[in-house]
Amino acid sequence: MKNNILISYSSKSGATKEAAIEIKNILDKEYSCESNVIDANDFNKKTNIAQYNIIIIGSGIRMGRWYGSGNKLLNFFNKNPNEKKKFAIFICSGRIGKASKDNDKETYNLYYNKYIEQKVSQFPNINPIITKKAFGGIKYKKGELLYNLLDKEEIQKWARNIGNLIK
Ligand SMILES: Cc1cc2nc3c(=O)[nH]c(=O)nc-3n(C[C@H](O)[C@H](O)[C@H](O)COP(=O)(O)O)c2cc1C
Repeated sequence: MKNNILISYSSKSGATKEAAIEIKNILDKEYSCESNVIDANDFNKKTNIAQYNIIIIGSGIRMGRWYGSGNKLLNFFNKNPNEKKKFAIFICSGRIGKASKDNDKETYNLYYNKYIEQKVSQFPNINPIITKKAFGGIKYKKGELLYNLLDKEEIQKWARNIGNLIK
């Protein structure tokens, strides 16, 4: 069966959107999937979710939180469980990026748990979650780039991990 994938991003500084597009490129080109990338803000009753067997939900993190549009998707799929759908969840976070760069495993684990594990545990009907991942982020201040800690190779690796899990 061909895998039809919905990849939803919630992004303000662009990292999560960039990751979503990279994930689509790998899954479609290397694993013959058909993926649609959407802005979570555009997710609504008209979105034809029946066509998708895999749902990938990504959000940026600001002030320690997922963006509202990312929460909207988590809430929707939690309230409308469907055993036939598999999920993959990811975030892009400045703190995760910095901890990875510094090879600071303790800080990495702290924020991984906060932004992914604890968060996802609040949505028990989103199931099965086949994989979860935290990437670094991008930050601008007054229009100037402060840092870009989004690792493209890491995104490609995770996309291949998903591709292999759904083969
Ligand atoms: C106002 C503001 C608040 C932020 N707060 C956090 C935070 O609490 N924790 C964190 O890890 N990163 C934080 N960041 C960094 C973001 O995680 C980073 O910009 C990431 O790329 C956001 O995803 P996006 O680019 O898809 O919007 C913050 C960035 C901004 C601009």
